[in-house]
Amino acid sequence: MSILFISDVDSFDNWDAVFRSKDPRAQLVECEDVDDPASIEYALAWNPPDGLLARLPRLKAIFSLGAGVDHILRDHTLPKGVPIVRAVDTNLAMRMAEYVVLHCLILSRQQRRLDAQQVKRLWVSELPVFSSDVRVGIMGLGHLGRYVAERLRDIGFQVAGWSTGHKEIPEVASFAGEGELASFLQRTDILVSLLPHTPKTHGFIGTSILRQLSRDGVLGGPAFISVGRGTVHVEDDIVEALDDGFLSAAVLDVFEREPLPEGSPLWRHPRVTVTPHCAAVTDPRSIVSSVLANIARLERGDSLENVVNVERGY
Ligand code: GLV
Repeated sequence: MSILFISDVDSFDNWDAVFRSKDPRAQLVECEDVDDPASIEYALAWNPPDGLLARLPRLKAIFSLGAGVDHILRDHTLPKGVPIVRAVDTNLAMRMAEYVVLHCLILSRQQRRLDAQQVKRLWVSELPVFSSDVRVGIMGLGHLGRYVAERLRDIGFQVAGWSTGHKEIPEVASFAGEGELASFLQRTDILVSLLPHTPKTHGFIGTSILRQLSRDGVLGGPAFISVGRGTVHVEDDIVEALDDGFLSAAVLDVFEREPLPEGSPLWRHPRVTVTPHCAAVTDPRSIVSSVLANIARLERGDSLENVVNVERGY
């Protein structure tokens, strides 16, 4: 079976090697090597150029190379009726949890202050903040959000999640919809955005959201961690909230424009941590098996797993 590999960031050779090792019948091809578009049955895509997928007349499914699918849904000429499948994988969720736990701990244990003290050879020991006194709020409780919430909870943070519907996660408070947004924000010291980018979430986290976060927490001001999509937050509003003292810190792995432009004030802001969209990167060693299992399901007439609801956008 021929699988078209489309990506401007992932290495074809890495993915090809893993496909070959798992199933010799799976033939990964690059766009420039496609002689006959009708020979392509599946596509594995990150940021496909507009119109490319519509030119494959026998396409049976499109697999996203990431957990998000906004980079595919952007193309308004997508072939009708061809299912789009998200990358859902425990490895990806573990990497995301590591990143969020790491930065929640850096914030709660005030590691940046300790780093600055070391540079000055200052021995100043203060009582640590207890994780059990820090309230983390996760926006977006899908597969990744739930996993992150559970790991933060295990470390002792007070964790809540906000999503479209209520979610049952032991010892994680669940808030849902517009009606419970204000209560969720008012109990949050560290806000984590894991929202997908959809027309509804575009620019959602700006001044109005940031200014509702709790100002009486143990961190001396709320912090924001953005790991879903940069188009969900508003960078000018984040900088303004930091400069006005409403926000104590921001940790950003995703940006409105990537790579983050050299001129962005975020690079040099003393209370911002910038990382290059590396919190959780899909690894062929863990994703290929689930793509192949899904293809096998389709070939024997069963339904695919992790299919995107195109109307909803995730
Ligand atoms: C990465 O951003 C992803 O969608 O997995």
